[in-house]
Amino acid sequence: MLCAAIVVAAGRGSRAGEGLPKQYRAVDGEPVLRRTLRRLCAHPDIAEIQVVIHPDDATLYAQASAGLPRLRPAVPGGADRQASVLCGLEALAETPPDLVLIHDAARPFLSPALISRAIAAARDHGAAVPGLPVTDTIKIVDEHGHVISTPDRAALRAVQTPQAFRYDMLRAAHAAAAQGAQAGLTDDAAVMEWAGHRVMVFAGETENVKLTHPTDFAAGPARAPLTDVRTGTGFDVHAFGPGDHVMLGGIPVPFTQGLDGHSDADVGLHALTDAVLGALCDGDIGAHFPPSDPQWKGATSDRFLAFAAERVRARGGVIAHLDLTLICEAPKVGPHRDAMRARIAEIVGLAVDRVSVKATTTERLGFAGRREGIAAMASATIRLPDSED
Ligand code: CTP
Ligand code: MG
Repeated sequence: MLCAAIVVAAGRGSRAGEGLPKQYRAVDGEPVLRRTLRRLCAHPDIAEIQVVIHPDDATLYAQASAGLPRLRPAVPGGADRQASVLCGLEALAETPPDLVLIHDAARPFLSPALISRAIAAARDHGAAVPGLPVTDTIKIVDEHGHVISTPDRAALRAVQTPQAFRYDMLRAAHAAAAQGAQAGLTDDAAVMEWAGHRVMVFAGETENVKLTHPTDFAAGPARAPLTDVRTGTGFDVHAFGPGDHVMLGGIPVPFTQGLDGHSDADVGLHALTDAVLGALCDGDIGAHFPPSDPQWKGATSDRFLAFAAERVRARGGVIAHLDLTLICEAPKVGPHRDAMRARIAEIVGLAVDRVSVKATTTERLGFAGRREGIAAMASATIRLPDSED
C-alpha cells in the first residue's frame, strides 16, 4: 500500500516565545523541522512527504530541507492546524496515496518503530492515532476554575502524531468539516470522530514530545549520555578506466580518466562508509549494498554514506568526526578539498569543521604511484548512548 506523509509546519509557535518560528529553531545544532523530515525520509515505507509551510517561511524552509529526498514541493498552510492539514491533503489529490500519516513538524523525536506502528495501524483500522496513558489526574473545570468532574484516569489517553489514516477517508472528512464550517478541531482524530468514524489508539512514545514552550528548547529532552565513544576505519581502492572525470569525496573532479566500479566508484565515500559501519560493528558496505545486486549499478555513493549515518542516528548516536585520506599521484586533491568537506558534511548532516580531507602520494611507488588507480583510507569517530553492559 502506498503511504505518504504530511508534515504540518505552518504555525507561528507563539507559545515558544520570541525568535524564529519553533520548527526552524535548532535543537542539538539542527533545525527541528529538518530532524523531523530526516526521520520520515529515512523510513522505507514512506513514498513521499508533503510539507505545509507558512508563506513567510519559504527561505527558512529551503535551508531546513536542502538535500533531503522524497519531498514534494511545499504548499502554503491555513489559519489553523486543521486548515493546514486540508491544504496538504489537497496537494496530494492528483496522485492519491492509499494511506497518509499526518505529523506535527514540532515533534522531531519520533522513532522509526513509531512510524511503522502508525502505518500498520492505518492499514488494519483505517484511522489510528498514537497515545499514552496519562500520569496526572485530569479535572474538567468551569470558567471559574471550579471542578465539574474527574474522569476515570484509566480510560484517558494523551494523543500524539503521527496520526494515520486511509487517505480517501481523511480527505473526505476534512473537506466535509471545512464545508460545514466545523473549525477549531485540534487533531485529525477529532475530524474523523466528527465525521462519524471509529478511531483506534495505538502505543505512542514518551520521547515523542511536541516542542511547545521556551523551556522545551532550553533544556532539550532528557536523553542517555553519549559516552560510548568508538572509532572505525575504512579502506578502498578503485582502478582508473576510461572517462573524463572521477567522483571523489562526493564531487566530480575533472580528469583525463574515470574510475572503474559497479557504483560511481567514489573511493573516498566508500572508505568513509566502511569507517562509520566499522564503528557501529555493523558489517561493511558490501554487506548492505551487494555489488551482485543490479540496483546499485551506477548508484551515487552519497546514498551509501547517508545510509551509514542514518544507522548511527537510529542507534541514538552522533558522528563526532570523519577523517579521509586520498592516496594518488593525480588528480590534485588540494583545490577540491573544501568542496569535498562541504559535500561530505552535507551528506551526513554534520558541521564542516568535523570533516577532514587529506591527500598524499606514494612517491611514485606501488599501484597508486604508477597511476593505476586511487586508494582511500578513512576513520570515523562516533558517540553512542551508554549501554548497560
Ligand atoms: N500548524 C500549522 N498551521 C497552523 C497552525 C499550526 O501547520 N495554522 C502546525 C504547527 O506548525 C505544528 C503543528 O501544527 O507543527 C502543531 O501545532 P502547535 O504545536 O500548536 O504549533 P503552533 O501553532 O506553531 O504553536 P502555537 O500554538 O504555540 O502558536
Ligand atoms: Mg497552535
